Parts: sequence; C-alpha cells; structure tokens
Amino acid sequence: MSTPVKVTTTPAIKNAPLVGLAEGNGSFNNLHLAALVLGVPWFVKRTLPLVNRGGFKTYLFLVLLLGLPITIAYWTVMSMYGQRKNEKVQLPGKDIEEYITLKDPELRAQYKGKEKIPMQVFHDAFFDGKAEFNGDVLDIMEQRHDWAKMVFTPELFKHVFFGLIPDVIFHTRSQDEEQVRGHYDRGDDYYEWFLGPSMVYTSGIVQDLSREETLEELQTNKISVVCEKLGLTPEDRLLDVGCGWGSLAAFAAKNYGCDVTGITLGKNQTKFGNDRIKAAGVTHDKARILCMDAREIPGGPGHYTKIVSLEMAEHVGIRRYASFLRQMYDLLDDNGVFVMQVAGIRPSWQYEDLIWGLFMNKYIFPGADASCSLGWVIKQVEAAGFEVKNIDVLGVHYSATIFRWYKNWISNKDKVIAKYGERWYRIWVFFLAYSTITSRQGSASVFQITMHKNLNAYPRIEGVKNHASILVKPQREISAVF
Ligand SMILES: C[S@@+](CC[C@H](N)C(=O)[O-])C[C@H]1O[C@@H](n2cnc3c(N)ncnc32)[C@H](O)[C@@H]1O
Repeated sequence: MSTPVKVTTTPAIKNAPLVGLAEGNGSFNNLHLAALVLGVPWFVKRTLPLVNRGGFKTYLFLVLLLGLPITIAYWTVMSMYGQRKNEKVQLPGKDIEEYITLKDPELRAQYKGKEKIPMQVFHDAFFDGKAEFNGDVLDIMEQRHDWAKMVFTPELFKHVFFGLIPDVIFHTRSQDEEQVRGHYDRGDDYYEWFLGPSMVYTSGIVQDLSREETLEELQTNKISVVCEKLGLTPEDRLLDVGCGWGSLAAFAAKNYGCDVTGITLGKNQTKFGNDRIKAAGVTHDKARILCMDAREIPGGPGHYTKIVSLEMAEHVGIRRYASFLRQMYDLLDDNGVFVMQVAGIRPSWQYEDLIWGLFMNKYIFPGADASCSLGWVIKQVEAAGFEVKNIDVLGVHYSATIFRWYKNWISNKDKVIAKYGERWYRIWVFFLAYSTITSRQGSASVFQITMHKNLNAYPRIEGVKNHASILVKPQREISAVF
C-alpha cells in the first residue's frame, strides 16, 4: 500500500491544496528516441523507391534530414500521451470555464469543457489580455492540472531553436550586457514593488516554521547565514559577484567590518548599492559596488579572501560555466572560502518543469541558460579544483520567498500598471504565482554551496567552527541595513 499524499499546514509557506500536489507526466526514454532517430531513416531507406538503391551515405543523409522532425514529434507525442507519475491525487475533472475565461473566440472554440488548454498557449493569451483567471492567480494555478495540459507546442520548439540554443552557443559579452541590463535596469521601483525594502533578488531562508516570518526576516536570515558560512572577519577582502542592489555588501561591511567589492552589470543597482552602503555608515574605501562585467573583476590571483555569488551563475551560461569557476578559483586566496548560490532544475523532470523553464527563459531571464541539476553544478565545481564543504538545498525556502514577492506584487498592482502597463503586470504575476509552486514542488530548486580550494595545505580544521547550515545564529550582534 502506498502512503497517502501529505498536505502541509505551516504558516511559513503557501501550502498546496490537495489538488496542487498532483504529479504530472514525466515519460521519456532516451533509448526509444535513439531507436526512432536511427530506425526510421533505416526503414525509409529500405522501403522508399530510388532511395533504397543508395548506400551508407544515403542512410546518414536521411538520419540528418529526419532526426530533428522525429525528435520534435517524439517530444510532442510523449508530452501529450505519457502517463502521470502516479494517480494518488484525483483531479476534480471540472470544465475549464470554472477556472479560466478565454476571451479570444478562436481559443474559446478550441478549448472548452473538458478540453484542456496547453499551458504555453494559455500564458501567452493571458499576457495579451485574451484570457483571464477566474479568481486569484495563485489559487487557480494551484489547480492547473485540471484545466491546463503540459504539452510541447510549436511555439515552445520555436523558442528552443531560435532563442535558447543560439544563446547557449554564443553567450557573448554584448549579449550579457543587453539581456542583463534589459532585465535589471527596468526601474528600481518595478523591483521594489515585489522585493520590498530589502531589494534582495534571491531566495531567503525560513528559520521559524511556527509563524509567517516577513520577507525581510527571510532575507536577513539568508544574508546572516551566508556571512557566517564565509566566516567573515575585519581582515577579510570579500568579493560579491552579481551583487544586485548591494544589500549583502552593505550588511557584511557594516556588521563584520570587512572590505567588500560588489560587482554588477546593472547601472541602477550600482547607484542604489553605493547609496545603501553609505546609508549603512560605511565609507566607499571600505565597501563599493562596481558596474562591470564579471569577466573584468579587478584583483590578481588570490586577491580576495572570501567570495560570494548569489544566483548570478545562472547568467554565466553553460558554455562559460567552467571558465567562470576557474576565474573564481584564481581570484580566491588559497585559504579562502567561496559561497555560491545557484538555482537549478530536477533531473527527474516532468514536462511541466521544462515548460515552466522555457517560460522563464523567454520572458523573465533571457540568456540565463545554466539552470542545471545539483549533480551537474557539483561536477563543475569539483572540476574547477574546489572541495565542497556544505550544500543546502533551499527550494522550499525559495517558495516561501517568492510567495511573499507575489503578495507584494499584487498589492502594488495599480502602481505597476500605471507606470509599466498591464502586460508587465501580467507576466510578473504569472511568474511569481507559478514559481511559488514550482519551487515548492521540486521542479526547480536552489543550492547554496560552501567550498574552498582542494589543496593539501588548506586548513580544513579551522572550518569546523563555522560548519554552518541554515539554522546558524550569528556569533555577534547584527543590525539591519534595510
Ligand atoms: C538574480 S540577481 C542576484 C542579485 C544579488 N546577488 C541578490 O542576492 O540580490 C543576479 C545579479 O547578477 C548580475 N549579473 C549577471 N550577469 C553578470 C555579469 N556578466 N557580470 C556582472 N554581473 C552580472 C546582475 O546584474 C544581478 O545583479
């Protein structure tokens, strides 16, 4: 007998209703795909007149010609007809009109009653104002398996071939500058309307399950944990790569007295961060935010005794990942510590995870193509010469964080629409609602990894006193910077 599905009730997160815990379809088989890609051209070559006179080169030509369409067809069919992982949660089976309203007549004719709408078709229609949620976006998204199907569509393939793959291959400096600035320099008010006063754009940490800690508490918990893992002292030179709006830099300099250099491509972030440092009573010669590409970080080999990088590595791209880690290795002192937080997806994916990931890549973080599994990240880290000291997997903490971002965003709806228009409001409300769910259910997660150089001479024993995980309490009085 299998165990029943467990519904949680803690005030720390947005708990899923039972229907929100339904598993999706993850059917996929590499061997079947390979057999089709190699077998179908063989069959065509044997049976098609004229072609059947050709030799091995004709077969290879057919593999090249048919490989892509076969792959697309396989993904499409498996996403449509594959089985759910399990059926422990029964879906209510209501008409889709109970959940959503399709205002576009063509869509309404196609998807109605029990005929569910592909998630990509729905979200694009929602962004264009052609579809609506019949209620709170997050509540309706919790019930998505009853009204949406997680299938691959032509639009998704188009994005994979003409958006994602070229980005992965090229990932140039100018591309980074354009995409990263396009995102982060939209306007500080835009970000404040969901990030709140902390202006921290990464997962916080839950430390109290008995109450709903505020967003600011979650972020202070996270920043304190990271500073403790780094074991900061006034003698340290800390580098924060992808420092955002500078909250961690200000916090570390103020509370630990270390020298801090924050690096970001965002121009607005640079000004905001330097102002935040000043407001924290720290002088520019002690802590500063520099606006530059991470490829140009100042300082020679071993210049920084501590390095932190929170959710910037996703922007580095798969192609440059190894050289980025190698650069961190070179910049770090031989006795130093590096804490890297990076988001990723689960290797045992369901189609929903991939469809959500493509939405994120197209609409939220263009160019951020390195959301890989924990295993992949660790392989890269070790290949760069690091030894991993500690890993905290923080997906559910991200859900708690994004849920608070979601509530902030909907409370600022009128202001967002007045300044940035309805479409941006809609894209972000969908992103925050869906990501509250995906990070809670394991589709996506975030890993906080503490590491150091794997050298014989590394003084490992000194790292025992701060072998910290998420419940660490700072060893000193700390004061807030936001
Ligand atoms: C998700 S934000 C995280 C910000 C910050 N670490 C935090 O905790 O709030 C990613 C940051 O990486 C920065 N970034 C991305 N690509 C970069 C690059 N090539 N060089 C410098 N900064 C980069 C962005 O400007 C942004 O500040």
